[in-house]
Order: sequence, then structure tokens, then C-alpha cells
Amino acid sequence: MNANADQRLEQLLSEQYDAFQAIHESWGQGETYFNWGYQTALHQPLAATRERLVCEVFRALGPGPGDRIIDVGFGSGAQDLWAARHHDFAELIGFNISARQVQEARRRAAELGLDGRLRFHHQPAEDMAALADASADGLVAIECAPHFDRPRFYKEAARVLRPGARMVLADICFCAALSPAIRSGPPPLRRMGTIRDNQASWSPWFVTRELRNINWQTLPGCQRTVFAVLRSLARVDAGPHRRHWVELAKTSQIMSIGLLVRAIRYDLIVLERR
Ligand SMILES: C[S@@+](CC[C@H](N)C(=O)[O-])C[C@H]1O[C@@H](n2cnc3c(N)ncnc32)[C@H](O)[C@@H]1O
Repeated sequence: MNANADQRLEQLLSEQYDAFQAIHESWGQGETYFNWGYQTALHQPLAATRERLVCEVFRALGPGPGDRIIDVGFGSGAQDLWAARHHDFAELIGFNISARQVQEARRRAAELGLDGRLRFHHQPAEDMAALADASADGLVAIECAPHFDRPRFYKEAARVLRPGARMVLADICFCAALSPAIRSGPPPLRRMGTIRDNQASWSPWFVTRELRNINWQTLPGCQRTVFAVLRSLARVDAGPHRRHWVELAKTSQIMSIGLLVRAIRYDLIVLERR
């Protein structure tokens, strides 16, 4: 992809997530999760399934006392506030391209007296300039890697992680059979990639420790997101925010069908820095 197309896509994504954040803030729900959740039984509240996904990812990371961990694409920061309450790490550094989400995450961390432990940067995951080489002990990426320029991201993650450090992703991509079509597809699809191409792209730096398919646990929340967005549409003012909200319903519906027919996969991936 050329540099201009990359910049345009990043601009669009930051506008989208600024809009999603603004909508939640207008409802008094600035601290919220933006993932599809991990559902294991009927009738679980959507918010609880979303927290469960965060829990699965941090459990797989297993941070310890003294660890410095990274969270890329941290949404409103809700997952890091949760992690700070449930895990005993020294410091968490977040990277996000949505200025509004960074602002909210910093505000809540300061309000809770956690701003010494949780630090949030308005910088892309592909360029964690705030971090020195091999300076971090772990990294999480929850439902955001499909937006990344993956080859650049894997290389940058490998730069900042020390050897043996874990990187855990709740990740969405296309199935291997679609590789030829996706390679010549439009930029957002190319960024999602296929499992085969993504694995080839991370393997120079990372050993795959676990690759667990979680389509069935994430599909219900993906579909419920469509319903929730449509139900709330009347509460979103007409204008650019509403346009992004409608787009979210459309994309989630397509994703939901993709997960059902397994053209799209949702995986919990545990990698180890070589
Ligand atoms: C689907 S949301 C997931 C948010 C959060 N991890 C969660 O599960 O609630 C995707 C997040 O990735 C962020 N994002 C997208 N592209 C990014 C990039 N290149 N670098 C850092 N963050 C990015 C968005 O701003 C948004 O916060």
C-alpha cells in the first residue's frame, strides 16, 4: 500500500473511533469496551462477555510484578483500568490513534489515581517511538490488529519486546483459502489479512505458542453489536457520528456472517519473542 493510502486509512480509523467514543460519552458511558465479547452461555449480558474477553487475553499474557506491558489499540482504556485492578504489573503503556480515546483513558486513570501506572500515548502501534528497544515484558492487542499495517506492526512489536516476552492478540482475519483474493483486495481487507499470510509475517520474530479459534464465543457478541447499534440509532444525532455508527452496524453484520460461515476467523493468539 502506498504512503498516502496508509495515511488516509489511519485518518478514517481515528475519526471513526473518535466518533464511537463521543457517542458513548454523550450517554455518560465514556469508560466502555469496544470488543465483541467472549460468550460461553446463553443470556450473558453483553458487557460481561466483553470483560470476559479482556480477562482471557490478560490471563494468557500472565503479567508479573515488575513487568512493563504494552496495550496497543486500547479503546477507551477500560481494559487497562480492569487490568490494573486484577493484575500485579509495574506499568502499562498504551498506544492508540484516537485522540478522544487517549484523552478519556488519561482522564479516568488520573481520576482513579492510576496515572503513575497507566500511561497512554497518542501514537500508532506501528511506531511506538516512546519505547526503547527490548524495553517491554509483554504486549496485548485486543481486536485492533486487523486495522494495523501488520508487517510494520510485527516488526515494531519485536523491537520493543525483550526476548522471551509474550504478545497476546484477540485477532480477526480471513481464512487461509482466501489468501489470493485478499492479497489483491482493497486496503482494509488487505490489512485484516489471512491467517496464512499473517503467520508468515510474524514468524521471523515470534514463535506461535497458542492459536485458539474462538469464532463461536465471539460470534454472538458480534451479532448483538449489530442489534445494539441499530436499537440506539435514534439516540445518535444526525451528522458524521451517525454515519460512522451506521457503518459499524453494516461492518459488524458482514463480520457476523463471515464468522458463521468461517470465511472469517477470530483467534486468541499467543506469541513469544524469539
Ligand atoms: C475495535 S477497537 C478495540 C478497542 C479495545 N481494544 C477494546 O477491545 O475495547 C480498535 C481500537 O484500535 C485503535 N486503533 C486502530 N488503528 C490503530 C493503530 N494503527 N494504532 C493504534 N491503535 C489503533 C482504535 O482507535 C480503537 O481504539
